[in-house]
Amino acid sequence: MVPELKNRLHVRKAESTDPIPYDLLLLADPSMTAIEKYLPASEIYVCELDEVCIGVYVLYPAGNGIAEIKNIAVKDELQGKGIGKHLLADACTRAKNAGYDRIIIGTGNSSIGQLFLYQQQGFEIFGMKMNFFMENYDEPIFEDGIQCKHMIMLGKDLPAGSRE
Ligand code: COA
Repeated sequence: MVPELKNRLHVRKAESTDPIPYDLLLLADPSMTAIEKYLPASEIYVCELDEVCIGVYVLYPAGNGIAEIKNIAVKDELQGKGIGKHLLADACTRAKNAGYDRIIIGTGNSSIGQLFLYQQQGFEIFGMKMNFFMENYDEPIFEDGIQCKHMIMLGKDLPAGSRE
C-alpha cells in the first residue's frame, strides 16, 4: 500500500455506541440473518480513512484458542489498494496479542480473489464445509458465473513468541 494511504488509515475496535457498518458487512456476507447470529459474540474492528469508516472485520472466539474472522470487507471503490491485506495483518496481530494460538477464515469456493489473498497472507486450506452456502442461504450465490456452494476453511497458526 502506498504510504500516503497507509498514513490516513486507522483501525480500531468499534465502541458499543458506534453504528454497525451493515453496508460493509453485507458486502462480505449477503445474509443479514447470518450476520446477526455471529455479531453478538464477536468483536467488530472498523477501518477509518480520514475518520470515515471504509472497512471492517469481525473477530469471533471459535473456541480452543482459535479466533475466526467471520467477516472482512473494504468499501467497493477502495478495494485493490492493499487495505484488505492491511486488515488481515491487523486481525492476526490483535488475535495473537489477545492470546489466540490460531486464526481461521472461511470463504466460498467461487471467491477466487479472496482465496488468493488469504493464501498469499499465509493462511492454508484445512477443510471444507460441503454445501454450506446451499444449505444456509435462501438465494443461490454466483460469482463470475461460478456457483458458491461450499465454504473453504483456511487457517494460520499464531506463534506465541511473536506476540507484540
Ligand atoms: N480478485 C483477484 N485478486 C484479488 C481480489 C479479487 N477479487 N481481491 C484481492 N485480490 C488480491 C489483490 O490482487 C492483491 O494482491 P497483490 O497485492 O499481489 O496485487 C491482494 O489480493 C490484496 O488485495 P487488497 O487490495 O489488499 O484487498 P482489498 O482491499 O480489495 O480487500 C477484500 C480484499 C476481500 C476484503 C475486498 O475485496 C472486499 O471487501 N470484497 C468484498 C467482500 C468480501 O468478499 N469479503 C471476504 C469474504 S470471505
